[in-house]
Amino acid sequence: MKRRSVFAFVMAASLGMGLTPLEGIHSAQAQERPNPQQSTATTLYQRLGGVYAIATVVDDFIERLLVNDILNSNPAIKEARARVPKAGLKFQVTALVCQTTGGPYAYAGRTMKDAHRKLNITEKEWRAMLDDFKKTLDRFTVPAQEQKELFAIVESTKGDIVVASAH
Ligand code: HEM
Repeated sequence: MKRRSVFAFVMAASLGMGLTPLEGIHSAQAQERPNPQQSTATTLYQRLGGVYAIATVVDDFIERLLVNDILNSNPAIKEARARVPKAGLKFQVTALVCQTTGGPYAYAGRTMKDAHRKLNITEKEWRAMLDDFKKTLDRFTVPAQEQKELFAIVESTKGDIVVASAH
């Protein structure tokens, strides 16, 4: 099967339609464009499909986290959930992911240590977050290699985020 960018999957999933109409619209130009398989797009950002695809994935991921009972049973997380506008959180996480994956955006929020310091996040809560992340990536059919790289990025922040072994 021809390799498609995650963006194509995301757009197809979020628009609730197959990929054919998108291809139909562009079929004339497509013949004049270089074959995507020969593309020099190598950053994770590009392979994921850029900011729109990443924002869509982050949106789904944060919606899952906000209703995760394991996370909401931590009073500090629950309090933050009520206080912090979710649109802002999605924006910040999208900017961070875009920057970290090699995209042309600069994250201007707090460090991971500062942002999560008061939340007393445990190992159990970390695992609950990873489970939701996996569900989101699977929903958008993010390929195994890109999932691996995204999990490695998330894992690299663990030392700054998980501060407690239990409440
Ligand atoms: C169990 C894991 C996590 C939980 C429960 C969690 C929860 C939260 C909450 C409640 C906030 C808002 C805090 C506040 O404004 O007072 C926040 C902020 C944020 N989180 Fe997380 N988070 C987790 C893991 C992560 C990971 C793995 C990343 C990125 C790799 C991340 C990126 C961010 C960013 C970028 C912000 C915004 C910081 C700012 O606005 O300055 N979080 N998180």
